[in-house]
Amino acid sequence: MHVELLNASDAVQYRTLMLEAYTLAADAFTSTAEERASEPDSFWAKRIAGTLQTSAAFGAFLGQNLVGTVALEFASKPKTKHKGHVIGMYVRPDARGTGAGRALLQAAVDYANVMPDIQLLNLSVTEGNEAAVKLYRSFGFETFGIEPMAILTPSGYKAKLHMWLPLKSGHLI
Ligand SMILES: CC(C)(COP(=O)(O)OP(=O)(O)OC[C@H]1O[C@@H](n2cnc3c(N)ncnc32)[C@H](O)[C@@H]1OP(=O)(O)O)[C@@H](O)C(=O)NCCC(=O)NCCS
Repeated sequence: MHVELLNASDAVQYRTLMLEAYTLAADAFTSTAEERASEPDSFWAKRIAGTLQTSAAFGAFLGQNLVGTVALEFASKPKTKHKGHVIGMYVRPDARGTGAGRALLQAAVDYANVMPDIQLLNLSVTEGNEAAVKLYRSFGFETFGIEPMAILTPSGYKAKLHMWLPLKSGHLI
């Protein structure tokens, strides 16, 4: 298994993997598979490599096959451009438990760490998603808030934990 920064040539595999994610791990995401399936190709191209460094996506590959992914989105407004948002973390069920999630998150954190403006990463995770919460905590992400009734799932409303990871602590004011 190896992790790479995705590029435009990965867009078809990336879209297929994310549509699987929204279907098989529906409660982990805010968007539905139906919503995302109707997005134009430009949506996936932008997610993989936004113009003006507004996003980046990483892929875990077994051979040529994309088996996991995570992406970063960066704010462009002057007052919020110090923040990066971790989104779309997913590893195929048969590839889990072998370090792909950890390798993907490490690649994303390393990428953000060398972006001069980025001082912190944030993310949200559905309550009860212990695998994801444990992974994020192991990188130092801390919960700063819990949003009640954040998403409606087939088993009712679920809360979202909002977590953050300060980077480059020496530069924080
Ligand atoms: C969360 C997810 C990405 C983890 O991917 P993974 O490749 O299995 O993770 P790794 O094998 O790299 O494990 C890394 C760490 O995650 C945690 N973890 C992973 N699976 C776990 C499980 N079943 N139970 C508890 N902790 C788990 C552990 O801290 C683990 O470290 P350790 O092996 O040293 O204990 C994967 O379970 C997944 O895709 N889930 C469905 C989608 C999802 O929930 N996405 C998160 C949206 S916020």
